[in-house]
Amino acid sequence: MGLYSETIFPWLLDKALGHPNIQRRRQALVSGAQGDVLEIGFGSGATLPFYDPASVTSLTVVEPSDGMNRRAAAHLAGSPVPIRSVPGAGEKLPFADASFDTVVCCLTLCSVQNVGQVLAEVQRVLKPGGAFLFLEHVLSDDPARQRWQQRLNPIQRVVGVGCNLNRPSAQLVRDAGFQLEPMPVQEEERAFGALKTLTPLVMGLAIKA
Ligand SMILES: C[S@@+](CC[C@H](N)C(=O)[O-])C[C@H]1O[C@@H](n2cnc3c(N)ncnc32)[C@H](O)[C@@H]1O
Repeated sequence: MGLYSETIFPWLLDKALGHPNIQRRRQALVSGAQGDVLEIGFGSGATLPFYDPASVTSLTVVEPSDGMNRRAAAHLAGSPVPIRSVPGAGEKLPFADASFDTVVCCLTLCSVQNVGQVLAEVQRVLKPGGAFLFLEHVLSDDPARQRWQQRLNPIQRVVGVGCNLNRPSAQLVRDAGFQLEPMPVQEEERAFGALKTLTPLVMGLAIKA
């Protein structure tokens, strides 16, 4: 892959998404993880410090980008929980059915190639009663903002290496058969600094029936 997607973009992402507002939300998201946990789209490992060894037995992370995996590798040794990194993509997870108590997606559904397929895989690898935790930027409810999200999406896909501004991810989670539960922190708000009008955030907890 190219210099931009494998070297420059992972570096940029660390800078852009390392903002304290985003870190606070990552922490709130991951605090709900317990048991055997899978994180899809681990990136450079920004959620890692927030996994609690008192409730997380093991953490498996899946990330398709070599550049992201290179950046994440530096953090793995300091992981607060037992961790294994597995190359792969969310659309075809290399795990048996009902393997995990919790699956986490943090700012990942925006970037995967096929959200429906990823969510079907999440359903498959979760144990019954297992939790799917997600934090995503989504399509706005406001028509004026939606228009800008649609207009700018082709540019975002290039700059953000496949990231989309216009995915209604919470609705897609419902469409995949998950029931959304209230979270201790559940919010939709504008939190990405200069890009805030284009990236309203949704944090959700969905339980596998
Ligand atoms: C915006 S980044 C977020 C990274 C990290 N979760 C974070 O919070 O900083 C999106 C991540 O999803 C990964 N990704 C893209 N397509 C994927 C797929 N099909 N399956 C799993 N991860 C994917 C990208 O390589 C990238 O690391």
